[in-house]
Amino acid sequence: MKFFLDTALVDEIREGVSYGLVDGVTTNPTLVAKSGRPFTEVLKEICAIVDGPISAEVVSTDCEGMLREGRELAKIHDNIVVKVPLIAEGLKATRVFASEGIATNVTLCFSATQALLAAKAGATYISPFVGRLDDISASGMELVEQILDIYEAYDFSTEVIVASIRNPLHVLDAARMGAHIGTMPLSVMKQLMKHPLTDIGLANFLKDWEASQKKG
Ligand code: E4P
Repeated sequence: MKFFLDTALVDEIREGVSYGLVDGVTTNPTLVAKSGRPFTEVLKEICAIVDGPISAEVVSTDCEGMLREGRELAKIHDNIVVKVPLIAEGLKATRVFASEGIATNVTLCFSATQALLAAKAGATYISPFVGRLDDISASGMELVEQILDIYEAYDFSTEVIVASIRNPLHVLDAARMGAHIGTMPLSVMKQLMKHPLTDIGLANFLKDWEASQKKG
């Protein structure tokens, strides 16, 4: 399972990379706005830090606009993946991008039938938003399971990015289901490393070691 960092903050990306855990990065307009930096500048810096797929989202809502923006984004770096919203115009654009060899991440997916359409359009990645579904008392992980079943049944090459991850359980469930990728905030990536028994065990080992050294 690949881990992507879901952020446009380069300091967080550098920290994630220092753990050797970052296979790619996803951004969205909200995350870029939070960085307070110009979009292109931030993307170039992220591409210099991480050698993996970097998702950059278009903000047009018509196919022509998405194509114009996406082609410009794709020119920034070979690793750029054009993120397209899962609306009718987005599906049209995804098909054109696929024919031009431009990688796409179809985002804002909330149903398995939407995911089926994205795969049929030739999406490189699909992003079901599990946390936002959980927020409205629907099961985000059930959606991921349905998508994986459908993609397997038809042998689609579209990879599933479990997105809108809010906690380590989302990552555990995604891994058990065999989802290709999880994109998560740095805070969740760090939570995955932690266990109180590890900390207590280590503290005890060190205390016992120190005591034995004094005896000698
Ligand atoms: C990533 O591709 C998505 O844009 C992101 O995971 C959405 O997360 P959120 O629901 O926490 O905003």
